[in-house]
Amino acid sequence: MQITVVGTGYVGLVSGACFADFGHRVICVDLDEQKIAALKAGYTPIFEPGLEQLVASNVAAERLSFSTDLAASVADADVVFIAVGTPSRPGDGHADLSRVYEASTSIAKAVRGFTVVVNKSTVPVGTGDEIERIIRSTSPAADVVVVSNPEFLREGAAINDFKLPDRIVIGLDDERARAPMIEIYRPFHLNQGPLMFTGRRTAELIKYASNAFLAMKITFINEIADLCDRTGANVQEVARGMGLDNRIGTKFLHAGPGYGGSCFPKDTLALAKTGQDHGSPLRLVETTIQVNEQRKHAMGEKIVQAMGGDVQGKTVAVLGLTFKPNTDDVRDAPSIAIIQLLKQAGARIRAFDPQGMTAARTIISDIEYAKDAYDAATSADCLVLVTEWSTFRTLDLKRIKSAMTTAKLVDLRNVFRRSEAEALGFSYHAVGMPG
Ligand code: UGA
Repeated sequence: MQITVVGTGYVGLVSGACFADFGHRVICVDLDEQKIAALKAGYTPIFEPGLEQLVASNVAAERLSFSTDLAASVADADVVFIAVGTPSRPGDGHADLSRVYEASTSIAKAVRGFTVVVNKSTVPVGTGDEIERIIRSTSPAADVVVVSNPEFLREGAAINDFKLPDRIVIGLDDERARAPMIEIYRPFHLNQGPLMFTGRRTAELIKYASNAFLAMKITFINEIADLCDRTGANVQEVARGMGLDNRIGTKFLHAGPGYGGSCFPKDTLALAKTGQDHGSPLRLVETTIQVNEQRKHAMGEKIVQAMGGDVQGKTVAVLGLTFKPNTDDVRDAPSIAIIQLLKQAGARIRAFDPQGMTAARTIISDIEYAKDAYDAATSADCLVLVTEWSTFRTLDLKRIKSAMTTAKLVDLRNVFRRSEAEALGFSYHAVGMPG
């Protein structure tokens, strides 16, 4: 198959590289000339384990290439994927679909012969209908079928998630798209993989409903963690005891500082808006959004309380800035809200993250960025673990303590053992794991 992927963000680049790895010929297109130049020179613009090697090997095998010329790249494609960003629209929280619509117009002008246009961007239910309308009105003679194929990969585990998915959802209302979609996902199909065919609108809603459900699950366990703190129960054991019930499952029950990232916050907001627009409010999702937002601030307060209620002039070492490990992404990361609250309360911040410092600097400039965790801890009155990078799990806590002025440890991901921390003389504060 000749595939063109429009958009080289997380989803576009990972999908393009993986499709090439399946044996298809793939062109990844982006308007951003610098990005394409970097990709052509062998640099991947995002930090994602395994991606640089996957891109390099498929470029070397001449299955994967990059271009800024959308028209030329689309003309000979059998299938064109739209994988552009759908950020929150400032002001109202709806998904901003302008890039999806711009891509649709450009694709409409460029297609030749029968072409399947597949939307992989996360979009509100009904967007496929609008993409189709745009294509038909731009080029009435274009022979195009529009399909929805949402992506469920996670940052930091993207390649594995793409190659070993729990399911592949393909939403189509025109049967002519079925055979090309099966061909694209042949490796899964041959292995009796989890291909699910459904209607286009249903596929679009599956994506939002899945993200919102996961966000709700995290928010649920976070509230249970608060209750554990007040009642002496242990949230990790509560989560395990719940998760052993197959109907619930153990995943996404890790209590922490609240979910962040480029997906859950914007997708929950957009789904809530869609519900309101259709007179079918999603009250659980609306509450999830509010509770998660409040949580980031509550975590800041928790740190202030752990430090005796006054952080004026004190130094807080923050370990982990990215919204989760194995990414360089700090979008909507709990660390940002926490640092802002601590700064407003008068604290000095010394932060360290293995990959997120460059991105964090563009959002928060007036804090100190340390060269490693031990450097961050130097002269600190409190050490706060916000993101559970594996390198933090094996920190020498004895060395950390000797670098600090006051031995306070706030572990917002329940990574350390209370007994070990307390034995070293730390005052230890976790989430839903009272002593
Ligand atoms: C999420 C979904 O998991 C993917 O399936 C989806 O494709 C993606 O959004 C998307 O729509 O593009 P991602 O945002 O990369 O993926 O990261 P997750 O691993 O889901 O984590 C999201 C947030 O939830 C992080 O801040 C993480 O720390 C938090 N989280 C996750 C918890 O606090 N507890 C958990 O148990 C799990």
